Amino acid sequence: MANKPFLTDIKTLRERARKHIENGAVTEGYTADRETVVKLLNEALATELVCVLRYKRHYFMAAGINAESVAAEFLQHANEEQGHADQIAQRIVQLKGAPNFNPEGLLTRSHAEYVEGDTLTDMIKEDLVAERIAIDSYREMNTYFGNDDPTSRRMLEGILAMEEEHAEDLVSLLETMS
Ligand SMILES: [Fe+2]
Ligand SMILES: [Fe+2]
Repeated sequence: MANKPFLTDIKTLRERARKHIENGAVTEGYTADRETVVKLLNEALATELVCVLRYKRHYFMAAGINAESVAAEFLQHANEEQGHADQIAQRIVQLKGAPNFNPEGLLTRSHAEYVEGDTLTDMIKEDLVAERIAIDSYREMNTYFGNDDPTSRRMLEGILAMEEEHAEDLVSLLETMS
């Protein structure tokens, strides 16, 4: 351990890069358990897709009850969750996995739930619950990725920060409602 060099020498790095070039971004230095990472990212993808659907439903229903500012917030969140879904799917492909967009089982793979909610307040509360679930599950995933897959971790940290903003937005909306 004492004599272990901090960096791999250039010759070894170059040799390793030439082997299995079909693996693209996944090099021999990738120390994470790729299958588990892809499985977790697919759960995050399902979570985002369920959130898109729930926010879309809430957007159209809120627009129907003339709550324009709340509806606009729902739509913005829906679009941002769609962006997160795309980022995650892209990363799964980079890891030589396949993004799961199958509607069958979507809710089972998702950590967040799909609750329609009858009133505007119900909708906001359900969205807030879903955001809080996403926040906790992404935080756990990031701990798991750690230094073994810093790229997935950084991506999900960015998404996590946005879910925290979403939760904050929803709390403010709830406060203005009461
Ligand atoms: Fe999201
Ligand atoms: Fe969110």
